[in-house]
Amino acid sequence: MLPVDPTMQQAFAENAWLHFFQMGHTASTSARPTTILVRGEGSRVWDQNGNAYIDALSGLFCVNAGYGRREIVDALAAQLMDIAFVSPFSFPSLPQIQLAAELARISPIGPKTRSFFVTGGSEAVETALKLAKAYQRKRGFHDRFKTISRRVAYHGTTMGALSVNGLSGIRNGFGPLVPGARHVPLPHRYRCDYCALHSQCAGTCADEVERLVEFEGPETIAAIIMEPVQNSGGAIVPPPEYMRRIRQICDRHGILMIADEVICGFGRVGHWFGVNAFDVVPDIITCAKGITSGYAPLGAVLVRPEVADEFLGGEADKFMHGITFGGHPASCAAALANLAILEREQLPARAATMGDYLMRELRAAVGEHPNVGDIRGMGLFIALELVRDRAGHQPLDEPNLMAWLSDQFKRRGLICRADDRLDPVIQLAPPLNIPHEDADKLVAIVADVIHALGRKLGTQPTMAAVKLAQAVGAG
Ligand SMILES: Cc1ncc(COP(=O)(O)O)c(C=O)c1O
Repeated sequence: MLPVDPTMQQAFAENAWLHFFQMGHTASTSARPTTILVRGEGSRVWDQNGNAYIDALSGLFCVNAGYGRREIVDALAAQLMDIAFVSPFSFPSLPQIQLAAELARISPIGPKTRSFFVTGGSEAVETALKLAKAYQRKRGFHDRFKTISRRVAYHGTTMGALSVNGLSGIRNGFGPLVPGARHVPLPHRYRCDYCALHSQCAGTCADEVERLVEFEGPETIAAIIMEPVQNSGGAIVPPPEYMRRIRQICDRHGILMIADEVICGFGRVGHWFGVNAFDVVPDIITCAKGITSGYAPLGAVLVRPEVADEFLGGEADKFMHGITFGGHPASCAAALANLAILEREQLPARAATMGDYLMRELRAAVGEHPNVGDIRGMGLFIALELVRDRAGHQPLDEPNLMAWLSDQFKRRGLICRADDRLDPVIQLAPPLNIPHEDADKLVAIVADVIHALGRKLGTQPTMAAVKLAQAVGAG
């Protein structure tokens, strides 16, 4: 265990700045010492006091291969000793070329996939949007600057990526945003305005995309960007036909289809890429996170040759875009080692089987609980939606619920995400190699917390009441 100097708490409160985090909470003298995570192994992490946690969020949907992978660390170190930096504006690095070839081998786009490397998910989305607009212009469509994305979806925080976000809480306050970002309803069976109460999906959410394209004018739309399985709102899996309909709409109207695979990619949903599950081939794929399992920052934009080839030709034809640390050689070396592990240990397939197992166990443990409305997801990308009452799907709008839940999980040794960007959900996305023992423990802790929630809300009798009832019954 690494010793943590006690002055670190003060430095954290005064000098550090976490993302999407109220640092003011750390400043008060009564604030509890902040948990500093200092070590990880497999699917477990430890804090500065030696407390162990199961990391059921893989850091932030990143650590697909699990913690403590010497192979990835060695690849990083070896590359840094060989050459620490190569300018992406002038030269390729060896690992960058090798990674582009590896991605072309596994990419749904096929062996002619061309990869543009950046440093993370927001930059990947930013790059894909610029690429789509530049491509449309090259083909003579100067008015195709608009984008379509889904409400509630998260695509990152840089201005372009922020504009395609569907989360008003994140977008508001930074306007004016990039013009032309339009949004459509999300295909959310459990809460669909059109068909949640019907036995079958009516496909209306895909019709809405078509209607918006017609309303705006197809000649104004550059791209549609969507996650195959949407994280924000809680592992929202679209109806089987939805992604194919989006592909057809794009084809019919000359719109580029961008699949945002920042979370879904690299095994998370039980396939190399999320779109594999829906049998569609997008024009552009954005990825990050699991590409290195979080061992180094990296993002990538995978592009169809028909799109990338538009930028071949003379000096004036090139893509006018670049980022100093994009495709850093050490990050590419880490990605190569990570992809080798994912492949050798068949972790995408394991995510599918372990995801099915977890889903079954969760349903058996809390599927009938009055405050659990829905358990959904794909592979090891799972969400439990919390409700006031099961029968009416009534959302659970309880003050401070997210903070309470996070604290309850942490006390029991589980890190996961309680999220209420739409209706309250518990998000689970452990490393793809999580052992059975940890998966069972995860289910037990989730069940324990759900029962504690039931007691807190009065939807479930307290143990004292159960014992009393049993005593009365026995008497
Ligand atoms: C689907 C999706 N796209 C883009 C991003 C932005 O990635 P980053 O945080 O690496 O910039 C995220 C981040 O969580 C994401 O989930």
